[in-house]
Amino acid sequence: MEPVINRLVVFGVGLIGGSLALALKRAGACRDVIGVFRRERSAQEALALGVCDCAYTDPRDVLPGLGKGDVVFVSVPTLAVAGVFEQLRESLPEGVTVTDGASVKGSVVAAAEKVWGAVPEFLVPGHPIAGSERSGAEAAKADLYKHHRVILTPMDSVSGEHLARVEAMWAAVGAEVLTMSVAEHDEVLAATSHLPHVIAYGLVDTLAHDSENQNIFRYAAGGFRDFTRIASSDPVMWRDIMLANGPAILKSIDLFTANLGELRKAIADSDEARLTGVFTRAKAARDRFTRMLARKSFSEPLIEEMDDMEGKEVTFVVRPGGTVNGDIRVPGDKSMSHRSIMLGSLAEGVTEVEGFLEGEDALATLQAFRDMGVVIEGPDKGRVTIHGVGMHGLKAPAGPLYLGNSGTSMRLLAGLLAGQAFSATLTGDESLSRRPMNRVAEPLRQMGADITTAEAGRPPLQIGGGAKLQAIDYKLPMASAQVKSCVLLAGLYADGRTYTTEPAPTRDHTERMLSGFGYAVERAGATASVNGGGKLFATKIDVPADISSATFFMVAAAITPGSDVTLRHVGINPTRDGVINILRLMGADIELSNQHEVGGEPVADIRVRYASLKGIRIPEDQVPLAIDEFPALFIAAACADGETILTGAEELRVKESDRIQAMADGLLLLGVDARPTPDGIVIQGKPEGPAFTGGSVDSCGDHRIAMSFTVAGLRAADAITIDNCANVATSFPNFDQLAATVGIGLDVRD
Ligand code: S3P
Repeated sequence: MEPVINRLVVFGVGLIGGSLALALKRAGACRDVIGVFRRERSAQEALALGVCDCAYTDPRDVLPGLGKGDVVFVSVPTLAVAGVFEQLRESLPEGVTVTDGASVKGSVVAAAEKVWGAVPEFLVPGHPIAGSERSGAEAAKADLYKHHRVILTPMDSVSGEHLARVEAMWAAVGAEVLTMSVAEHDEVLAATSHLPHVIAYGLVDTLAHDSENQNIFRYAAGGFRDFTRIASSDPVMWRDIMLANGPAILKSIDLFTANLGELRKAIADSDEARLTGVFTRAKAARDRFTRMLARKSFSEPLIEEMDDMEGKEVTFVVRPGGTVNGDIRVPGDKSMSHRSIMLGSLAEGVTEVEGFLEGEDALATLQAFRDMGVVIEGPDKGRVTIHGVGMHGLKAPAGPLYLGNSGTSMRLLAGLLAGQAFSATLTGDESLSRRPMNRVAEPLRQMGADITTAEAGRPPLQIGGGAKLQAIDYKLPMASAQVKSCVLLAGLYADGRTYTTEPAPTRDHTERMLSGFGYAVERAGATASVNGGGKLFATKIDVPADISSATFFMVAAAITPGSDVTLRHVGINPTRDGVINILRLMGADIELSNQHEVGGEPVADIRVRYASLKGIRIPEDQVPLAIDEFPALFIAAACADGETILTGAEELRVKESDRIQAMADGLLLLGVDARPTPDGIVIQGKPEGPAFTGGSVDSCGDHRIAMSFTVAGLRAADAITIDNCANVATSFPNFDQLAATVGIGLDVRD
């Protein structure tokens, strides 16, 4: 690498300063490193360790020789920064950039103001979010900052040139640089770093000195070790941090003390429900953090950015060929999983769910209800226990409800929240933030709800609390189960009887599940209606396997000679079975057995054996019944004899991606004659031999596009690489394992 800075002068060559020195040297990103030490012995040690190239104990010997392009990095304990600034004021030439690594930024800025009168244009306060309980130059590591974050808190007075130099320096050692205000930094760090240190030091001190049993450490095991590791950090540094960031830390301590007091009371009162609530919520939050850490190692993340970090870089590589054989059960139905949490939360009593889909979308719904105060145990191997709070028992969430990639969560929740006493904001990831929400905002406004969207009806949605909802008679302009469900759920809170009439049948899980929870839903033809003001009663829910996930294996077997696959316990609700009807029209060999009902939903085992397929004109009445299955059906069409024509499917353009365009683009890249139309697609199939070339396609972050092109690999001439596959986890977290089980040659690359 070309050097991005000239010389690095480090004041305080310990873990933080030493690691930056080693990292810059290893990357070839600076010309040389000069250490400034208080003691000669430390200087000799750092030289011997190779952390710096030369060492001084008097800054006046080094500072006057510096110039433009050189960087001074101040990494002494927080309260010693002012002393270093004094030395800099005396002998720092013009053009030199100064930055620091202190954990509190307010005190650094105050020190600068005291020394220079105002924060100088060459000072860029910074804080690398990385560290260890170890300290000193011997603990320095060249990779300490790789994939870690560095927060810069530049003031308005900073010059662009100095800021750019510091940013380039951190980027060169593999860090991710972000900026925020001094106050925000100090509050965030007080909560996520300073408070845990206070607690760890306090706990160890309590056990070591106040405990009646002086031998207590002899019995301490993993829990104690993990919890208190940071109490072995540098005491001087942490003392300084407490002194420097006092007010923000006190605020965090007060909040924690209040919560600890509540926990104490719950234990004293044997309050099982409260203890379950606190522990399940905390476990869920910690598990989410663990998942984030597995993808990228950093500490103190900013929650709203977690989604971006959840590795957009998952790539699927599918080896060509193979056959599909086996007997599997795919995960639980996504639509029913969402609804089980929503209705279970609003019911009176405890609802037990089995077969819950532990995918990101349904988990987003679960988290939203936890954020509104519902105690939810699990999920644990598909089991979830929901302690319902009743129709009016939800609590105002502390912040926006983040719904990730899940349109169903956002649209159904909009209906439920429109009738609550509190206000809420619904946000989502990049894909969800592009999806149309006026389709739910408009009928809800007609009911009297107070809803604001961002531009062009996009998320975030702001829902004002306390609206008095009136029942409406709503004729849906599009066949959408989400819109229907949203209006019906708002109808539970409305004055009068709310009617929805759909232009074509769409999935009716909301209606069925409401009945299962004892809420009367009247259905007459295309119209469903509910009376407002009723109650839901807890029940047991057995979520069948998701036919939308089963589809990938049905298509896989249908297109691959020699295949025979059985999918167990799949939901075959007649509003969801379009994929079976369409594949059968194409000539697929599909056998249903063991048909029965669970909790008001029909299920069956589905066996699919290879049979040659023919192209068809897909009946438009099947479109809403197979709305999520088209990406996979396009793969079947590409392997069929003749032309397949889809019309009346413009809704596909507003799914997690524009599924017509995304599939057409990928199919064309794989050598398929596919012509998108405004409301569908025309595909010429190749019944014999490979139907696809190899190549590289983009899933556009859409889970169903990613899984569909995976299936195409079975009939490809060469390997297919699919980019952007992380979102497969939204609906089908173990897709890769099941694909491997039945014989699809899928490699997942992170
Ligand atoms: C769903 C309805 C459908 C479907 C989505 C889940 C539901 O969306 O595509 O995956 O659970 O209600 P639309 O209502 O937008 O058609």
